Amino acid sequence: PVLVLDFGAQYAQLIARRVREANLYSEVVPHTADAAELLAREPAAIILSGGPSSVYADGAPPLDPALLEAGVPVFGICYGFQSMVRALGGEVERTGLREYGSTMANISDTGSTLFNGQPSEQSVWMSHGDSASTPPEGVRVTATTPGAPVAAFEDDERKLYGVQWHPEVMHSTFGQRVLENFLYAGAGLTGDWTAENVVETLVEQVREQIGEDRVLCALSGGVDSSVAAALVQKAVGDQLTCVFVDHGLLREGEAEQVEQDFVEATGVKLVVNDAKKQFLEALDGVTDPEEKRKAIGREFIRALERAAREVVGSAEADGHPVKFLVQGTLYPDVVESGGGEGAANIKSHHNVGGLPDDLQFELIEPLRSLFKDEVRQVGLELGVPEGIVWRQPFPGPGLGIRIVGAVTEERLDVLRRADKIAREELTAAGLDRDIWQCPVVLLADVRSVGVQGDGRTYGHPIVLRPVSSEDAMTADWSRLPYDVLAKISGRITNEVEEVNRVVLDVTSKPPGTIEWE
Ligand code: XMP
Repeated sequence: PVLVLDFGAQYAQLIARRVREANLYSEVVPHTADAAELLAREPAAIILSGGPSSVYADGAPPLDPALLEAGVPVFGICYGFQSMVRALGGEVERTGLREYGSTMANISDTGSTLFNGQPSEQSVWMSHGDSASTPPEGVRVTATTPGAPVAAFEDDERKLYGVQWHPEVMHSTFGQRVLENFLYAGAGLTGDWTAENVVETLVEQVREQIGEDRVLCALSGGVDSSVAAALVQKAVGDQLTCVFVDHGLLREGEAEQVEQDFVEATGVKLVVNDAKKQFLEALDGVTDPEEKRKAIGREFIRALERAAREVVGSAEADGHPVKFLVQGTLYPDVVESGGGEGAANIKSHHNVGGLPDDLQFELIEPLRSLFKDEVRQVGLELGVPEGIVWRQPFPGPGLGIRIVGAVTEERLDVLRRADKIAREELTAAGLDRDIWQCPVVLLADVRSVGVQGDGRTYGHPIVLRPVSSEDAMTADWSRLPYDVLAKISGRITNEVEEVNRVVLDVTSKPPGTIEWE
């Protein structure tokens, strides 16, 4: 792997993603890992990330010079760059010339390893107080900026490189090219981390882990569980059984997407647990959002447990106990929970929704090395239907928390029809990948007066909640084109007779959340 040594920057994951975009497998490792540990992993290259400290600060994470002497190509970024300069005998000083944000870098050699084929002036993203003032002996300085007399250095013989700026952020115009030049020309690597190879490798791993045993997977209809299931299916075929709890709170066409399209495309063995009635009963008269969530969560575990027991029971009767449970854990979850096996499993297990103790499984997490965009590519490679691969985030409790008021079959039907129209028009306008998600909410307990044809109406409002976001932690309302909004509003009020008003939610998060409940 290409190892990204995390010096505590918010950018380490981003660097790893950029390396993956260059078709090379990369992993983030904490700076607390010692040099022997890192080198034992036989890294193809090491990238030292930026970090919040000054290299002179008390407790600043140190760089072990042994990493630079092992013959492994190393690329330092910002703090990583400065710690390389120091470890190699150069000087880093507080020059008083701080640089934050965009600045211009002057490239002195556009034929060098890092800057080959790039312009001699390029916009770069900086965030530093200290600067390298004297370069280490034997290296070439190949760039300067107004605030950094030594802004990049290269040493082809020892394969050591670094830049003061952040090539991983998109504000550094040629950042990805600099990174790729390091990886391909500097480190001599070939980009072979492609969806096709990833599938091959993961299938092999999963096959080895599972052996002859049986596996269970709970499908939600979302991207992660679907791609994970498709991968395991490819690895072990009918040893896998998928369980799909149809709680009746999905949007129009989504249950069919799983039960028909997905099954047809992948050939997975699917057990459907039709629990629509139980969910409606459990939700009867419940209006408090938290109560709703609890009721849905409770019913979900019950239904999943029933279905799981059935599968486990019949597998056992055949003499093949079910030993594994598939989880769609992704790489960011693994990194955020410390990268340790234990930590990640606690989180995953929590996602399972707490199956009872006598249903104990080992977890199979085939996607735990992948970023979301890679999961999508792998999904496409495996032939998972595009409707699933590109599905926007959708909450587990589904439409249950998009009806403000009690959930009934009739209200679900109204919301489903309105939501379908909104989705159709957003897709037709080519906006699917511009917005993060667009909840459509029915205010079931609110009525307003309207007029349609010659008659007075007394109907319900539908709320459109299109948002843009990076990770759902914060969000902004999407500035959708007025003509698209007009089209959606016109169609909903015409085609869904229970609805006589469409309103747009123009609240960011915070203070609003993305969902209404
Ligand atoms: P909020 O409403 O908290 O939503 O801003 C943030 C993101 O999480 C989704 N969401 C959920 N996803 N189970 C889920 O799997 C849930 O209970 C749940 N509640 C909210 C929401 O759609 C948004 O993407």
